[in-house]
Amino acid sequence: MNYEERIKELLKYKPHLKIIDNKLYIEDIPVEEISKEYGTPCFVYSKGRIVQNYNRFLNAFKKLYKNVEIRYAMKANSNPHILKLLLNLNSGIDAVSVNEIKLALSVGFKPEKIIYTGVNRTEEELEFAVKNNILINIDSLSELKKVIKICEKNNLEADISFRFNPEIDVKTHKHIATGLKESKFGLHEREAYIAYKIAREYKFLKIRGIHMHIGSQITSVEPFEKASKKLLEFAGKITRELNINLDIIDFGGGLGIKYKADQNIITPEDLARCLINNFLEASEKYGFENVKILLEPGRYIVGDSSILITEVTTIKITPYKKFIGVNAGFNILIRPVLYEAYHEVIVANRVFSNSYEKYDVVGYLCESGDILAKDRILPKVFEGDLLAFLDTGAYCSIMSSNYNLRERAVEVMVECEKSWEIRRRETFEDIVRYFNI
Ligand code: LLP
Repeated sequence: MNYEERIKELLKYKPHLKIIDNKLYIEDIPVEEISKEYGTPCFVYSKGRIVQNYNRFLNAFKKLYKNVEIRYAMKANSNPHILKLLLNLNSGIDAVSVNEIKLALSVGFKPEKIIYTGVNRTEEELEFAVKNNILINIDSLSELKKVIKICEKNNLEADISFRFNPEIDVKTHKHIATGLKESKFGLHEREAYIAYKIAREYKFLKIRGIHMHIGSQITSVEPFEKASKKLLEFAGKITRELNINLDIIDFGGGLGIKYKADQNIITPEDLARCLINNFLEASEKYGFENVKILLEPGRYIVGDSSILITEVTTIKITPYKKFIGVNAGFNILIRPVLYEAYHEVIVANRVFSNSYEKYDVVGYLCESGDILAKDRILPKVFEGDLLAFLDTGAYCSIMSSNYNLRERAVEVMVECEKSWEIRRRETFEDIVRYFNI
């Protein structure tokens, strides 16, 4: 596909992005205008798109089974303004650290709407969750031991669930597959069985459910199909053999989004059909009753809601390559470097053109690996042009750093013709604040 076909195809799936008079708009604002007002680099989020994604995901499941709730995986993007928006939509939270729990509580999420899924947690961290009545997805026998100790020491009860490792190979980047045989996450079947058996012996442990999360950016139904069947079979086994009544089955997150025009992806409806059908079948077989299904989407909710605007500072032509140098690097957008991820690039101030060139879009960091887009055919680009990287709502801003003492990007929310800052631009003083100088 050439650039024009690529962009036209991709934008069919992103109704919050439009091209008017050959310029890129997000909701009803030209990207050029946003860059003038807030500067670059700048993450811009469409409020409408986040709401749309949340509703579509939830409704896909609700149509098939009423008792379903979302626990948004806030690791994807924990900007408190985005969390507030999701709170107002009645979402819950999947948190992975005490700080995430604290932020969720301070934004207004009730403890019963927060779950705590983590790995290698300390006694202090688990104690914080127990004391705040947060449901813990226990990841190991070691964590179970710690929770028992905490309850005995403080004379407290704890709501627990266990993370089950279904040993499924998901076809995604190796860094984001989490339910493999070799993964560090979760309890394998034998250990999980032992964990439930032990937990059953302690009255102060309220065994609520079972959890899995097999990976991220999953684009086919097959791994969900296989993993959910294994999980449900195991849930049936402990219901029958250990007489444990689960009231929560948590299928985790992982649904992929369309980063590339020619990429096939599955929809929330496909995912819902697979998980709910398997669940209903298992319910009949094992007699599950009044079970609440939890889902932990992160990327799907926020991923495609945002673009990153950067400015072209340098055009460099060497005997071998044409480089576009922008005022951002992997400190702002690490996904291409860390996961070989593809983010589409649009020339925001002149979307289509008559002449095209092949470029590497490179960052401002002093590292040769600082390549944000490789061998891309783009309209002929000039210094001062604006490049928009698409689909930067999940795992972008939150994974940014101050490497090379560069400031993190400002973040802006857009609703129709209105825009406002949701994270101010960092300054040198912000960066050095924590040094003892
Ligand atoms: N639940 C648990 C327990 C998780 O570990 C994750 C993501 C999610 C839910 C949400 O998964 P999602 O729906 O967003 O796929 N930084 C990587 C992704 C890491 C995902 C980590 N866990 C990236 O940029 O692709």
